[in-house]
Amino acid sequence: MKNILLIITLLIFSAHLSAKTDKYRLTLRDNPSNSMVIAWNQVSGNEPVVYYGTTDHKQDWSKYAMSAKPDRHVDYAEMNNNFVRLHHLTPNTAYYFVIKDSEGLSERFWFKTTPWDTGERISLIAGGDSRSNPDARRNANLMVSKLRPHAILFGGDMTVSGEPHEWQEWLNDWQLTISPDGRMYPVIAARGNHEKNNEMIVNIFDVPHKSVYYAITIGNNLMRTYVLNTEISIAGNQTAWLKEDLALNRDKQVWRIAQYHKPMRPHVASKREGDGQYAEWAGLFYDEKVQLVVECDAHTVKSTWPIRPSTGPKSEEGFVRHKNGTVYVGEGCWGAPIRPDDDAKSWTRDHGSFNQFKWIFVDNKSMELRTIKVDNAKEVGYVPNDDPFFIPENLDIWSPKNGAVVKIKK
Ligand SMILES: [Fe+2]
Repeated sequence: MKNILLIITLLIFSAHLSAKTDKYRLTLRDNPSNSMVIAWNQVSGNEPVVYYGTTDHKQDWSKYAMSAKPDRHVDYAEMNNNFVRLHHLTPNTAYYFVIKDSEGLSERFWFKTTPWDTGERISLIAGGDSRSNPDARRNANLMVSKLRPHAILFGGDMTVSGEPHEWQEWLNDWQLTISPDGRMYPVIAARGNHEKNNEMIVNIFDVPHKSVYYAITIGNNLMRTYVLNTEISIAGNQTAWLKEDLALNRDKQVWRIAQYHKPMRPHVASKREGDGQYAEWAGLFYDEKVQLVVECDAHTVKSTWPIRPSTGPKSEEGFVRHKNGTVYVGEGCWGAPIRPDDDAKSWTRDHGSFNQFKWIFVDNKSMELRTIKVDNAKEVGYVPNDDPFFIPENLDIWSPKNGAVVKIKK
């Protein structure tokens, strides 16, 4: 009898704690120093509320100082996607939260806003192309949970064709990016050619522009991050906006970086040249001092020397090395089929072919970029929460002939 009572008690207790929400993700519409979007799938139940604050009350939801209801929900990919857009957050601060609804309570999650002071350093992960190979994708996701970045630039081609079951699997796999202590990391999402339309990215990641091109400042004036869309017209509205935004922000931020899906000059021979983006953006990036560009799509590995557009005698495919030029890195490898690195140029710094993403440290003097091989994620140690730049044990940093660290000085 005692045992039966115990079992009943446990069942009631676990039912009370069971999540009626899943597929959690954090995304960004604005500065991660003072804003965050908390997103999830509402499985059942209603009236979800995010209870949050800067003190960790674990799952004791009533003790959290603040609460917020979804600003947007959209039925999409056979999920009920909810988005709570938090504003007026304090920079460089841990925020703890739970999601409570009529039926249950989520685990307690948390995130950290980025520092405001430009003198502080931040850590980013940049990559993309996670379709097709679930093992590689999960390893890369697990690696995120270990490296604890301030944000993740994700350059498109999340799934093969964006079918509901593919998005659901992708979001289930994304749960591996959550650290065991419940810490989550926000995505800055771009669209790839495997996203059939802009709505996919808008409805899964709540990005701030319906055409999926936008810019996000990080910190007070540390950097402005441009997300561009190679899957719609590049000339016209998109580039007009980019030109205007770069001009408005000229000299306001220490760094300008860009991410988009299709490379200007893919390092895979079978891939078509990105002449449209070359024509519209390469000169603009050089003129407006965009120091780093992250490209995807080709599923190979490259980093270039700083380059600028040129058709002069020493140029190759429209670029020459130039000390004040733009560094281009990429190209995908978050679980998409790897392709041979068979199209290097005279201005290519290093190239390879393996599953990887970039790990980037940014402060007001320099950017340091490492290429992280992700296959051994299970063996890699955790970066401590209080030391985001610690190199954990067993981390497999790519070490090509020109050095493991790409350093870009201001
Ligand atoms: Fe692609």
